[in-house]
Formats: sequence, C-alpha cells, structure tokens
Amino acid sequence: MSEVKTVEAKTVLEARDLTRYYPVSGGLGKEKKVVKALNGVSFELQAGKTLAVVGESGCGKSTLARQLTLIETPTSGSLAINGTETAKLGSGRLKAMRTEIQMVFQNPYASLNPRQTIAFQLMEPLAIHTKLSKKERYERAVEMMKTVGLRPEHSSRYPHMFSGGQRQRIALARAMMLNPKIVVADEPTSALDVSIQAQVLNLFMDLQ
Ligand SMILES: Nc1ncnc2c1ncn2[C@@H]1O[C@H](COP(=O)(O)OP(=O)(O)OP(=O)(O)O)[C@@H](O)[C@H]1O
Ligand SMILES: [Mg+2]
Repeated sequence: MSEVKTVEAKTVLEARDLTRYYPVSGGLGKEKKVVKALNGVSFELQAGKTLAVVGESGCGKSTLARQLTLIETPTSGSLAINGTETAKLGSGRLKAMRTEIQMVFQNPYASLNPRQTIAFQLMEPLAIHTKLSKKERYERAVEMMKTVGLRPEHSSRYPHMFSGGQRQRIALARAMMLNPKIVVADEPTSALDVSIQAQVLNLFMDLQ
C-alpha cells in the first residue's frame, strides 16, 4: 500500500463536505436565521496544480477562500492541509499551519496597510513567524520585490504611491514571504486593467 502512495501525486489540500453558516438577525423579535454561504464543498488539490473555483456573485467563493486559509472556521466538514487535519489543531500548530497557506485578496488596497512602508509590510510576516534578524528580513523583502518585478529602491514607499497592478504585486509578494505551499487568490485581478491582468496572472504562473 505504501508503495502505491509514493507514486501518487501529493495532496496538499483536501476539503470534505465543508459548510459555513453565518447567523443573521431576523429583525426585532423574530427568530434567528442563518445564511448558508457554503454547503457541502469537497475537492482535492495536488501539489503543483491549480484549481479554479467559478460561480456567480454571492455563491460563496470568498467564503470558501476564508475557510481554506484558516481565517475562519467551517461550521462543519473537514479540511486537511498537507495531510494534517486542521480541526484538531491547537492554537500553536494552527499558527504554524497558517504560514503554509496564504491568501491574496481581490482588492490590494484593503489588504495592505496604507500607513506602513512596503518594506515593513513584507518584513512583518518574517518578524512574526521567524527568528531572522532585521537585516536578514530586509534582505529577503528586497529579494522578493525583485522576484515580483518591483524596484527595490521603492521599498520605503507607501501603498498609495504604486499603481493598482504594482499593489497587487506587493500583495502577492507579502503572501509569498513565508514560502507557502498553497496560495489562495480571491479574484486577484478583477480590480486591474485588462492589460495588467495578464501580467499579474503570468507572475502567478512564474511563481508557481
Ligand atoms: N460574515 C457574513 N455574515 C453573513 N453573511 C455572509 C457573511 N459573509 C458572506 N455572507 C453571505 O454569504 C454568501 C456568499 O458570500 P461570498 O462573499 O462568499 O460570495 P462570492 O462568491 O465571493 O461573491 P462575489 O463573486 O460577489 O465576490 C452571500 O450571500 C453573503 O451575503
Ligand atoms: Mg467574493
């Protein structure tokens, strides 16, 4: 049996029957209701592969992304990241697991802090999750800026000093800082011009 497993592609993400219900108020004196944002989603993702989730507005794509990236906890169902069942993890293991799966949001303006420089925001994940010195963190940030096609001399700039496409490159760079196994992108190009969309998608492919 173990021989069979070694030739199989590695499953990095396995979702079984994921559901996410949000409680909503039914108004004054009315009974409590729930929105069934996610209802029984199952899939597997193999290492090195891309999985696209397509559906109409409000069908639950962003909700799914938040469960996969451990930003929220599913109401029921199971989620395994790199073969580890996430529901049973304590807070320490969960923090470590969060470094393996990163999210790029639809709107980079919302995910970047307007009051912090790009260098600071790229160094921050390393400050939280690694023991690297400030100098080492800065060097890694500059290296990642080059990787995503940004000029390192702009590292002391703030998010508003970049174009939309450049900001999405910064968001992607931040997601990549901890060398994640999985990147979940929630409509990462819908805020961009068509010509820039292609560049950013090509960058995703290159990094993969
Ligand atoms: N925190 C929340 N509380 C209550 N309802 C929510 C919450 N988050 C999402 N919903 C509801 O869950 C459903 C799915 O929302 P979601 O944002 O996941 O859709 P989506 O597929 O990402 O849509 P879009 O393509 O417009 O981004 C919607 O009906 C939404 O109103
Ligand atoms: Mg969405």
